[in-house]
Amino acid sequence: MDPRLQRRVQRYGWNKAAAYYEGFWARQLRPAQDLMLDMAALQPGERVLELACGTGLVTFRAAEAIGASGTLAATDISEDMIASISADAAARGVTADFRRMDAEALDFPDASFDVVICALGLMYVANPSAALQEMRRVLAPGGRAVVVIWGARKHCGWAEIFPIVERRISGDVCPMFFLLGTGDALSQEFTRAGFSSVRASRLTSPLHYASRDDALGAAFLGGPVALAYSRFDDETREGAQAEYLESIAAYRDGEGYLVPGEFVAAMGVK
Ligand SMILES: C[S@@+](CC[C@H](N)C(=O)[O-])C[C@H]1O[C@@H](n2cnc3c(N)ncnc32)[C@H](O)[C@@H]1O
Repeated sequence: MDPRLQRRVQRYGWNKAAAYYEGFWARQLRPAQDLMLDMAALQPGERVLELACGTGLVTFRAAEAIGASGTLAATDISEDMIASISADAAARGVTADFRRMDAEALDFPDASFDVVICALGLMYVANPSAALQEMRRVLAPGGRAVVVIWGARKHCGWAEIFPIVERRISGDVCPMFFLLGTGDALSQEFTRAGFSSVRASRLTSPLHYASRDDALGAAFLGGPVALAYSRFDDETREGAQAEYLESIAAYRDGEGYLVPGEFVAAMGVK
């Protein structure tokens, strides 16, 4: 996919998903975010940059960890995500530098942060290597970058959502989504970007959907296919929903579903 098109799909897709994201995903993504925050071990007073911050599920926890003596910048490619997190921060009395920004082109000076974090965002970036190089550039010497992404396709039971939607738009939604989560690809990217002391950790964490509507909402409204889905007519929507439910039928659990999920986190030091 043309990188410019991918950035547009991400930007406008997540604008569509912003209002639904937390309701459908907060609980499911918590174990992955915990893993990343554990690895980051943020300290009071640190200067932290978050990429692909979304609605702030990680951001507000990071703000608490670094305390009033720390500084926080949080960026995302979607203006609706930035609007949502800015409003939430104002309501909570959290101060941070919120800005719409592509993770591949960081508008910050060299060596200006102690830690850069990115939860569940790097799979969507058109050129993840460029983003990791940018992360390293803005880190002070000794600073650390910590990332968590989805794991391998075969361990993510919801993965059929992509071909199901792609067949209906004759195009790609997230062409490289599972590439980084397979084998040691993420660690290798860290090393290639110049990081040292690279280490990674894999986490199995099933996704529990309480109902059919919960599973459908997470898949079609609150995530990366939201833009394509918003353009489907009713008949196409019904067909895609039926096909998706069929693809996760093996994971039926009472009224809902227990769908396999895997994440991988990695960190490196500048
Ligand atoms: C699954 S959400 C994760 C949000 C948040 N980090 C969390 O853990 O809840 C993915 C986010 O990545 C953002 N994103 C996608 N491509 C991006 C890019 N190239 N640069 C910055 N953010 C991007 C989306 O706008 C979306 O907010």
